[in-house]
Amino acid sequence: MMMNALHRQHILSSDQFELETLDALYSTADMLRPVALGRQYTRILEGAVLASLFFEASTRTRLSFDAAFMRLGGAVSHTTGVEFSSLMKGESIADTARVISGYADVMVIRHEQENVIHESAKASLVPVINGGNGAGEHPTQSLLDLYTIRSEFAKQDRMINGARIALVGDLKYGRTIHSLIKLLSLYQNLTFVCTSPSHLVCPQHYIDIAENAGHRIEVHHDLCTGITGCDVLYATRVQGERAGGDILNLEDGGDFCLTQAKLNAHCPAHCVVMHPLPRDSRLGAQDLSSDADQDPRLAPPV
Ligand code: CP
Repeated sequence: MMMNALHRQHILSSDQFELETLDALYSTADMLRPVALGRQYTRILEGAVLASLFFEASTRTRLSFDAAFMRLGGAVSHTTGVEFSSLMKGESIADTARVISGYADVMVIRHEQENVIHESAKASLVPVINGGNGAGEHPTQSLLDLYTIRSEFAKQDRMINGARIALVGDLKYGRTIHSLIKLLSLYQNLTFVCTSPSHLVCPQHYIDIAENAGHRIEVHHDLCTGITGCDVLYATRVQGERAGGDILNLEDGGDFCLTQAKLNAHCPAHCVVMHPLPRDSRLGAQDLSSDADQDPRLAPPV
C-alpha cells in the first residue's frame, strides 16, 4: 500500500505527498471515521504515547491530535507555551526534541519560528509532525482541507481538476494556504485566484510551485473581483501575531470582510466555502463574517 511511503517518516511539509499516497491516506480516514465520531471503538494504539509540544497557541490542532490519538487507544503527554518549558532556561530545541523522543513514539510540534520543526526532526529518534511552523506550513491542516474539498466535490459529482480556487485573506503569513497550494498543485489545470491586501500577497515560492505544475495564477487585491465565479473559496484570518508592521497598514488593504451579501452577489450556488479557523470575529475584522454562518455553501466542520 502506498501509505508505506509514510511509515516512520517525519511529516514536515505538504510536498511530501503524492496523489497515490493521499488516496491511501483518505481511504484509511474514511475507514476510521466511525471511530472519530465515537460510534466504533478500537485500541489499535494501546501502549503508544504521543508527545504534544505546542509552543504556540492552538485550539483545534492540539485537541484534534489528542482526540485522534486517544480515540485510537493511545496516550498523550503535553507541554504548551514556551514559558512553561525548559526552553526558558536556555535549552536548545534539539536537546528538547532528542530527550522527548525517548519518552514518546511520535511527536507533534507547533512553534512560531519556522526552523524549529526542522531542528527538532533532525534531533528526534521518533517521527515528528509539523503542527504549524510560524508563517511556513501547516501540512496536517491541508490534508484535512483537501479531504473536505474532495468530499464536497464528490457530493456534487464534480472533479477537482479544472477548478477555480479563490484563496482569500492573509496569503503572506497564512501557513494553511501555503500547504494547501502544494497539495492542490498535485491536481491538473487549476486556477488559483490569490486575493489579498497588496501587503499580504502569497510568497513567490508557493506561486512558483503552482505555476511549475502547470496551473494558472491570478492576483487580485479586490475581494469581490477575486471571489467571482470560484468553485472553492478558502478564506483566512489576518495573522496579526506574525504581521508586525504589516498589520498596522491593514486599513489600507481594502475591504476583506466576507459577508453573506458578497457571497450571494459573487459566488455560485455550487461553491464550497471553507475557513481553516480560527477566524477573527471581532467587530470590524477583515474575515469571514458570522452573518454568513447559515449559508449552505459552508463546508461542514466534520
Ligand atoms: N486551524 C488551526 O490551526 O487552528 P488552531 O490554531 O486552533 O490549532
